[in-house]
Amino acid sequence: MAKPFLSIERLTQQFPDGAGGTLTVFENSTFGVEKGEFVCILGHSGCGKSTIMNILAGLAEPTSGVVKMDGKHVSGPSLDRGVVFQNYSLLPWLSALKNVTFGVKARYPGWSKDKVEAHAKEYLAMVGLDGEVINRKPSQLSGGMRQRVSIARAFANQPKLLLLDEPFGALDALTRGTIQDELIKVWSQTEQTVFMITHDIDEAILLADRILLMTNGPFARVAESVEITIPRPRNRTEIVEHPNYYAIRNHLVQFLGQRSKELAGQQSHGDDQSPESVVIDKTATPPEAQSEPATLRAVSNE
Ligand SMILES: Nc1ncnc2c1ncn2[C@@H]1O[C@H](COP(=O)(O)OP(=O)(O)O)[C@@H](O)[C@H]1O
Ligand SMILES: [Mg+2]
Repeated sequence: MAKPFLSIERLTQQFPDGAGGTLTVFENSTFGVEKGEFVCILGHSGCGKSTIMNILAGLAEPTSGVVKMDGKHVSGPSLDRGVVFQNYSLLPWLSALKNVTFGVKARYPGWSKDKVEAHAKEYLAMVGLDGEVINRKPSQLSGGMRQRVSIARAFANQPKLLLLDEPFGALDALTRGTIQDELIKVWSQTEQTVFMITHDIDEAILLADRILLMTNGPFARVAESVEITIPRPRNRTEIVEHPNYYAIRNHLVQFLGQRSKELAGQQSHGDDQSPESVVIDKTATPPEAQSEPATLRAVSNE
């Protein structure tokens, strides 16, 4: 099978445990992300989500294993990978607009000043920021607006991969909802690949093509890859009506509430730890039902 766009191969991370021993966060973790996919990773606090993200971003080196993007080893930070953290600090002395143009200039050194500015404004507008507000400094913006600027900045650089580490964790529910919608809008208009950490199940179902479920640590692993079989565009009030919504939600709740603990602490014994694929689809026609109409048609034709 062809390698996925982003390929995580036998990734292992160990840290000193502070008591003279070794903490194995995860071991031989192996999974992939396809180009243009929106993948969310869900797991309890401390299981190793941020550690994986920092490795994907090139901000940390794993103990062993490799990450490949487009077939090339990821090592060190790069403009090909954009990162948004929960409290990602904007440059406080620059306006919202300049915070975005700053990165665009570095990414596209050949562009004219006007082109850079128009591009930055386009991305700010996609997250609902236009007019006078884009000339304000971060201290003059609300938390939600600051996070919008962070998202616009990350997308405006047009990285091949966007990494989001609980980007909405510090926001109130209403602001969170608006920015989730804006994030989906930017993602669908730009066809970028997104890997996002969240611990909000409903957020993950709304946003993701696929959810990776992580067991608790130590020896955590990505145990399942759950496909979100709800068509897009998705709307938060309508998706709850979809026949797959509660079936998927219950599966996720059950995993996080119970199986993430039961499966914790399992060592790999040298094997690749790849997730099991889970497809929950109540709208799919079971195989027996599929063959029936064909038989009936045959009878009626005779
Ligand atoms: N630099 C480090 N040194 C030692 N232990 C670390 C370091 N970074 C993370 N850890 C430990 O690794 C585990 C996973 O952390 P983290 O990736 O931040 O989890 P999550 O993002 O899922 O909450 C935790 O037990 C944490 O204490
Ligand atoms: Mg974290």
